[in-house]
Amino acid sequence: MKPGLRFWQRALQALRFLGPEGTRRALLYALLRDSWNRKEPAPKSPWRPVGPPQAVAAIPGGGRFLFPEGELEAVFLEGGLRLTWTPGRLPPPYAIEKAPALLEPEREGEGGRFVLRAGGLRLEVGPEGLLFLDERGRVWRREALPERQGEAWRHRVDLAPGERLHGLGGVAAPLDRRGRAYRLWNRDVGGSYGPEEGPLYLTLPLLLSRKPGGGYLVFYENPYEASLDLRGEAALVAFAGGALRYYLFPGKPQEALAAYTALTGRPPLPPRFALGLHFARWGLRTEEEVREVVEGFFAHDLPLSALHLDIDYMDGHRVFTVDRGRFPHLEGLVRDLEGRGVRTVLILDPGVKAEAGFPPFESGLREGVFCTLPGGRLLKAPVWPGWCAFPDFTSPKARAWWGERCGELLALGVQGFWLDMNEPAAFAAWGDPTLPKPTRHALEGQEGDHREAHNLYGLLMARATHEALRARGVARPFLFSRSGWAGLARYAWNWTGDVESSWEALRRTVGIVLGLGLSGVPYTGSDIGGFSGHPSPELFLRWFQAAAFMPFFRLHSAISTPRREPWRFGEPVLSILRNFARLRQALIPYLYTLAWEAREKGYPLVRPLFFLDPEGEAEDAFLLGDALLVAPVVEEGVRHRLVPLPRGLWYDFWSHRLVEGPGEVFAEAPLERIPLFVRAGAALPLAEGEGLVLHLYPGPEGRAEGVLYWDEGDGEGPSRLDRFLLEGGRLLWQGEGAYPWPWEGLGLRLHGARLKGGRVGDAFYPVQDGLLRLPPFLEAFLEVEG
Ligand code: NOJ
Repeated sequence: MKPGLRFWQRALQALRFLGPEGTRRALLYALLRDSWNRKEPAPKSPWRPVGPPQAVAAIPGGGRFLFPEGELEAVFLEGGLRLTWTPGRLPPPYAIEKAPALLEPEREGEGGRFVLRAGGLRLEVGPEGLLFLDERGRVWRREALPERQGEAWRHRVDLAPGERLHGLGGVAAPLDRRGRAYRLWNRDVGGSYGPEEGPLYLTLPLLLSRKPGGGYLVFYENPYEASLDLRGEAALVAFAGGALRYYLFPGKPQEALAAYTALTGRPPLPPRFALGLHFARWGLRTEEEVREVVEGFFAHDLPLSALHLDIDYMDGHRVFTVDRGRFPHLEGLVRDLEGRGVRTVLILDPGVKAEAGFPPFESGLREGVFCTLPGGRLLKAPVWPGWCAFPDFTSPKARAWWGERCGELLALGVQGFWLDMNEPAAFAAWGDPTLPKPTRHALEGQEGDHREAHNLYGLLMARATHEALRARGVARPFLFSRSGWAGLARYAWNWTGDVESSWEALRRTVGIVLGLGLSGVPYTGSDIGGFSGHPSPELFLRWFQAAAFMPFFRLHSAISTPRREPWRFGEPVLSILRNFARLRQALIPYLYTLAWEAREKGYPLVRPLFFLDPEGEAEDAFLLGDALLVAPVVEEGVRHRLVPLPRGLWYDFWSHRLVEGPGEVFAEAPLERIPLFVRAGAALPLAEGEGLVLHLYPGPEGRAEGVLYWDEGDGEGPSRLDRFLLEGGRLLWQGEGAYPWPWEGLGLRLHGARLKGGRVGDAFYPVQDGLLRLPPFLEAFLEVEG
């Protein structure tokens, strides 16, 4: 869509959402914000190069280099390096979970050129810049000496021909970020975004470089607004303020991500229900409507795991209230739903209605938890309920206050929270839809303004909520947050926000989910069918099919769109949706094992093909773990497609046909299914009825391997890990952990050959309908026909 048209479409949509009074507030606020922002002096001085290195002093783990215009501290860490150019403010270490241990380097240097060496890495600092080399003397990164403007920094990093760059968080752009310029500033897109969009809700200054001979990951620990120009042969990276601090982790994407997530924290295990199907709808206005929808799921035999209540449950859209007129028995509703296996999740917005006599506002004022303008005046900006005050989540006091309020809502019995509008969003008729730049923030006592705190706001709202729930005995808080920054994975999941209902947006969504995973945000997903608009039955179906293989599987839509519970699309769509919802249920043992792997290793659940094959560049296909390859249909009318296969043998999940990569294979994609392949050599644990069935997909030499992680599904109790190894008809089962095996024996299905039966000790067990049921064993022998 043309930018002009999009502007008017958005303006109209805003009017519809906000109404005349809200529009008046948005106009007034835009004027006020501009006048506050004008009071911010723009830096005037020119950019100045730091000049050549002059001296180095040894510090623990590295060296402090002196330059005429600044200082560089470079230290070696396990698997990487950290560089810090000052002067400039260092952020409170919000992103960092664990300060990494330092390695002691060897130091050499003469004539203005210095070398540090440790852990197989080498850093050379000279008048022309910085060189990073590996053990074999290969340069994996080359950067020019930076420039500074007051306390703001920028630098230039060489890019190799063919080098690919990923990361930057949620960006509606191709997965390879080269060839474009980006602004990193978390932003509410205001109701709808398409396949091409500026920064979205969750940006992150992280780039994952892939190039022949070795790539690396760079994470800039700097939350200020950043601009990255990746259009040329060098990356130009600039921050609006703050010290230029960055972590570098060389290696393949897996290794680099493992190191980055060890630094910023790996995602804890989610409660298992979170892996099921979620339903949300903005505009479910009463308890009866909610019950009706849930009944619909049961009546149509659709497995539903969680029901999300949008701002409709609130009284006048005020956070921490319940409209008792429309939701008189919310506690009872929550209890009833839970009794049927459906968890309730409530939306929370950070803005607190600034209204005299409103208890959360009064108590927040009393405790001094809200953001202020310079001089101490309360900052107010309009959101859903009208003029709001904003908790300053960069203050421990505000986080504790927020936690108290969340505790009150927990008493309703709800099982999770949906953290929205936390870029933070403010309704402004034009310009930046957030708080004014001079807004004051505590920043853990460091004191600063919104330029520094903005990109951290969502992360810290998630932290406040997560910590509150943990402190109140919730072992595995289920939270998902629209905004965030590095470290979010420790506290919350994410979703991709107000995506439009279009085929182009569905196509882009696959890339956005992959891009978030490569940015260290492993649990994400999109509003199925798109948030804004009216998906055709086919678009809705194809979106649902793709989403069934993404970490966060959620139906949601805007209040202005026609209702779209699955049964509203009639047959055959409904039956196909049901099949995919059931397939998702079946996948839960596999998904839960991937969740365990994400916690252990930091790998995203949804991965690009290059995790298995360095040449795998497709953006319209992805891996789920390392056993499944999903090729969603993202074009209207398409009933078959080419599927890019990484090297090796693959089983077509539907037909069991064996195909070989690398290369593209033709796959049928009637409405009933999307191409799905299983890597030969995988053993896939799937739920079937009340049992657990291990699907064996033998690779060359009849070998298949798989792991299953399992526990109670919530809490912090015992767990177990089972490893299965099939070799030439002999299946070994090795279990460890205190959680007892919860199924009756083990079911087996063998693909690629006809199984006759299996032997455990002296006993023979025949196959029935392709399924072999065995009692628990350490060693079993499978017998195939022919
Ligand atoms: C914006 C969110 O992105 C959307 O999911 C939600 O429905 C609306 N806010 C209303 O709360």
